[in-house]
Amino acid sequence: MEIPSTKPFFSDESIKAISGEIEQVLKSGNLILGPYTSRFEASFKEYCGVKRAVGVSSCTAALEIVLRYFDVTDSDVVVPTNTFIATSNAVLYAGGHPVLADINPDTLCLDPKDLQQRITPQTKGVIVVHLAGLPCPDVNEIHSICRENGLFLIEDVAHAHGGTIGGRKTGSIGDAGCFSFYPTKVMTTCTGGMITTNDDKLANYAVSLRHHGVGSGLTQIVNLGNDWLMNEVDAVLGFHQLAALENNLRQRNDIASQYSTAFEDCEWASTFRVPADIRHSYYKYPVLLSPAIDRQQLNQRMKKERGIALGSVYDPPCHLQPVYQRIFGYRDGMFPVADNILKRVCCLPMYPQMTATEVKYVVDSLSTLLPACKKETAIV
Ligand SMILES: Cc1ncc(COP(=O)(O)O)c(C=O)c1O
Repeated sequence: MEIPSTKPFFSDESIKAISGEIEQVLKSGNLILGPYTSRFEASFKEYCGVKRAVGVSSCTAALEIVLRYFDVTDSDVVVPTNTFIATSNAVLYAGGHPVLADINPDTLCLDPKDLQQRITPQTKGVIVVHLAGLPCPDVNEIHSICRENGLFLIEDVAHAHGGTIGGRKTGSIGDAGCFSFYPTKVMTTCTGGMITTNDDKLANYAVSLRHHGVGSGLTQIVNLGNDWLMNEVDAVLGFHQLAALENNLRQRNDIASQYSTAFEDCEWASTFRVPADIRHSYYKYPVLLSPAIDRQQLNQRMKKERGIALGSVYDPPCHLQPVYQRIFGYRDGMFPVADNILKRVCCLPMYPQMTATEVKYVVDSLSTLLPACKKETAIV
């Protein structure tokens, strides 16, 4: 059996509907800024409970647009080190300085206490990442810190489509939400992104920036923009993926509860607790390995002997990426929580079409291989 760490899901019914609509797009000759983009944006904003949603070419573009709106030139923006590097790169692309911060070991998301220590007069804003699909349980505290210090708050929602905290959807809490529809994500448009916000000025700025900075038309450029449009074909995909999202999240949560039950009393791995007021999107299902387990050996043996791909969130984190070590001089040990914990995290396969047999196969394989992958000189 071959089990990937993730794969996109389109039901036969949605493939049929998508194919028909793509045919319409191709025949219409209207490939950008047409009715399918408007339809996807309208359903996305309603789903998230926000005033505006603006489709763009990627989450990286979404982040850069919002950061440009807040004019971060020469200012600091705090970003958790535990994220995909695109989050902090967007700060650099927008002319600002990413200031990395440590994480809460219980959530793997930005630690509000560490954030507080990194705020200086140069700080203009914060990006919180709802990591692995978990709406950051500290997001309300982080939001209050931002308000007290006059900082903007951007939610990086690349992992957490449809996640909720206290009944509120991810992407509706901060000043803006930036979503990714990259192929591995909870929902996909192949590649693509979305900005959600209640700020009309921000949304109008995004509409201009995604299309080279247009004013009333392409002959009048009023902002320094880029080619960041979502196209009509991707918008068709997005609309149908959104329509299937609730079902998708139910299936992900069902798989997660099978994993949680299976590893509840496991000696070699523990699961992460999800607070009661949170609906997790389960982009990934992370487990924390005992310090006695050799993760590299486990990954290799699960792949080679069982055909199962395990993932990580994120190892290495941003400060240990060679490019950031070269540019900023970051070293191992500078973010003690992230440095200790992320080496021990591994993510179990997660995709909505995973069958009960596949879930059981992963559980059985891991239960067998965990005790077989102990470090020779275990530090327990
Ligand atoms: C947390 C996070 N932020 C941003 C991005 C960038 O998304 P995109 O590929 O849509 O630009 C990713 C993509 O993997 C991500 O995981």
